[in-house]
Amino acid sequence: MTKRVVLAYSGGLDTSVAIGWIGAETGAEVICVAADVGQGGEDMDQIRQRALDCGAVESVVLDLKTEFAEEYCLPALRANALYLERYPLVSALSRPVIAKHLALAAQQYGADTVAHGCTGKGNDQVRFEVGIGAIAPDLKVIAPVRDSGMTRDKAIQFAEDRGLPIDQSKRSPYSVDQNFWGRAVETGMLEDPWNAPIEDVYSYTADPSAPREADEVLISFENGVPTAVDGKSVSVLEAILQLNERAGAQGVGRLDMVEDRLVGIKSREVYEAPGAIALITAHQELEDLTVERDLRRFKFSVEQRWTELVYDGLWFSPLREALDDFVDSSQRYVTGDIRLRLHGGRAVPTGRRGEGSLYDFDLATYDTGDTFDQSLAKGFVQLWGLPSRIAARRQQRLGK
Ligand code: ARG
Repeated sequence: MTKRVVLAYSGGLDTSVAIGWIGAETGAEVICVAADVGQGGEDMDQIRQRALDCGAVESVVLDLKTEFAEEYCLPALRANALYLERYPLVSALSRPVIAKHLALAAQQYGADTVAHGCTGKGNDQVRFEVGIGAIAPDLKVIAPVRDSGMTRDKAIQFAEDRGLPIDQSKRSPYSVDQNFWGRAVETGMLEDPWNAPIEDVYSYTADPSAPREADEVLISFENGVPTAVDGKSVSVLEAILQLNERAGAQGVGRLDMVEDRLVGIKSREVYEAPGAIALITAHQELEDLTVERDLRRFKFSVEQRWTELVYDGLWFSPLREALDDFVDSSQRYVTGDIRLRLHGGRAVPTGRRGEGSLYDFDLATYDTGDTFDQSLAKGFVQLWGLPSRIAARRQQRLGK
């Protein structure tokens, strides 16, 4: 029986060439799997057809949008996942869901190998391969761009020699990865970290400095899950899509940063993630109102660990699962509404309320109606500072 390889197919030059390249190198039949994680742009059916035109024996498009929103973006939102305190894990979140379905497709089509188009310099190779291995530990993985000399010029030559239907004129000068959680742009003029990004790098967000009216949006959460926008019920996917539109129109969610990759390289990255940033901002705000002090403080360390694990390709790990159980428990009372003002590239909370609120007006007020017994504070402060006072006395006694 002819060997079969499942290829993660994007429709671009590298993976289109990989179809014939893998065939020529291994003699295997190639089955292309294109995942729809809301990257938009080209019609998915056109991508499916192109794989066949490039020599795939089978080509499928998987609609992973709802699964991606509910099982990957939502846990990231509840974990306020921002790598290096800024990057909302756009690509890092999509890789595990794609990897899972590549592994399942390999089982379904009787393939013993999965192929991807990643280079050897990035995080995505790690995320794909660790993810595939976690679902199907015996599958083999090949990466033609990384492992078998399929350089860019050879790929272009290969495409020309075979007359592959790839329009090189439409190529972006940047390397872009996008889905509805955001958009990552690198290479080209951005490789010099001193170069400011030019406006045409962006496509999810309008210029934040252009004059326009502010937009105000009400986001409602139940147990840390966004359930309504301006009072209208939404699915998680709809919440993300609606906020991409509204926050994107105000230029919210642009990031320009130098980032630490798992492979050790520092790289300059430009991101735009209007919906993700608006939702995380609102969610954090609601947690400030509803999560008890020590739980809130402790959750920060969990959030950071969760984010680094996912960034580092360990989505399918026992630790990530256990941390998600913690996050889940922390969301028990994260129910309420946040009013966000979207304007000038920023999403600013201007109001918060909800049944899960721990805010007690009578305790907080400085006006009449104050129920806080200030006389209790005196003894509390003395005992709180007691260890410091004892240490200071020792210092005086020893003269150090
Ligand atoms: N650096 C980001 C990450 O590791 C994004 C990588 C996306 N890939 C790309 N071709 N722009 O998550």
